[in-house]
Amino acid sequence: MATHPADIAAAALSERYRTTREQSLALISELQPEDTVVQTMPDVSPTKWHLAHVTWFFERFVLELGLKGYSRFDDQYHFLFNSYYYTAGQMHARPKRGLLSRPTLSQVLDYRSYVDTAIQQLLQTNAADDKLISIITLGLNHERQHQELMLTDIKHVFSCNPLHPPVSRSLEPVPTKDVAAYSYSTGDEGIHPIGFNESGFAFDNETPRHDALLQEHRIGDRLVTNGEYREFIEDGGYENSEHWLSDGWATISENAWQRPLYWDEKNENEFTLSGDRAIDDNAPVCHVSFYEADAFARWSGARLPTEFEWEVAAGKHGVGGNLMESRHWHPVASSGPQFFGDVWEWTSSSYAPYPGFRPLEGSLGEYNGKFMCNQMTVRGGSCVSARDHIRSSYRSFFYPDARWQFLGIRLAKDGHGS
Ligand SMILES: [Fe+2]
Repeated sequence: MATHPADIAAAALSERYRTTREQSLALISELQPEDTVVQTMPDVSPTKWHLAHVTWFFERFVLELGLKGYSRFDDQYHFLFNSYYYTAGQMHARPKRGLLSRPTLSQVLDYRSYVDTAIQQLLQTNAADDKLISIITLGLNHERQHQELMLTDIKHVFSCNPLHPPVSRSLEPVPTKDVAAYSYSTGDEGIHPIGFNESGFAFDNETPRHDALLQEHRIGDRLVTNGEYREFIEDGGYENSEHWLSDGWATISENAWQRPLYWDEKNENEFTLSGDRAIDDNAPVCHVSFYEADAFARWSGARLPTEFEWEVAAGKHGVGGNLMESRHWHPVASSGPQFFGDVWEWTSSSYAPYPGFRPLEGSLGEYNGKFMCNQMTVRGGSCVSARDHIRSSYRSFFYPDARWQFLGIRLAKDGHGS
């Protein structure tokens, strides 16, 4: 029985490793092997690739560094399942991940077992120092991110299949509820600390904590609904260039976008992780790009919140709501503030380093920092984010034309209003 604090920490991490890895398989337990190979666009990775890549992360950054005598499961996997870590070597082209019919799913599952055994050996023999423990913890948070990606990516894959199959037949029914008219609360103004300030894990891009100046503003009390977005569509929102950023107007014109991704052409039904479903006008709108969120806000006489306004407002609420564990895997109507879960919320903030930001050392410095250009920050997690993975300081980021993630809208306004 472990009694030393370091042993207790290693035992807790061992258990967390086991449950997190098991959950990756549980989430996709209703898929068939054929489902796990398909790639429908460059942003979407096949389920099988995700399962292998998160395993490669542990092999490359933990086992090769810390487990004496470790030998790779297969040398070629290093090339196939490296994502974007150029300092760790070359990699297979991202848009071609769907061409990898080999290794088979069965071989990838064997790879997972092989690495799991080695990681548990590392933890149980106390061979892991603080540095290795911190990288294993990063690897588990990395796997959490890929769990969400597996669900959003397979949703896109199945949406491209005319059969529109459900990803799961065992999800919880989505509750319906009337929501109040859109309202705003006065936000805190002045100088406020921003960034990670808790115990436990945070990504490097949430640090260092620093002061930000918030102007007079109001922030929306809930997410924008499908019904409100439908009004924008029916008012000619997609036909009126006045509402749109130049890049946004070009993007919707080139792609002939008329509605959120996954809505049918009658704006009646939408594709979800449990198959086709009637659009609930009280549920949060999702699968909209930054451009659409920004245009909707302009049409509404409002704007998107900055990530700092969002963080100060969300920090007053505990993490809760419609997250992965709710097993709706779709945004739901709510009378709550909806800061966490349902949809990632677009902010008006460019994804940029905080003052004094330093990436992690070595190859892991490529994790976040090198993407701090041309992307927008999103906040709050979604209905497929794990509860233990979300916090008010968490920053994710997407290109402004991305729509395949669960991405939605909260409004803000300048001033205190009347
Ligand atoms: Fe990754």
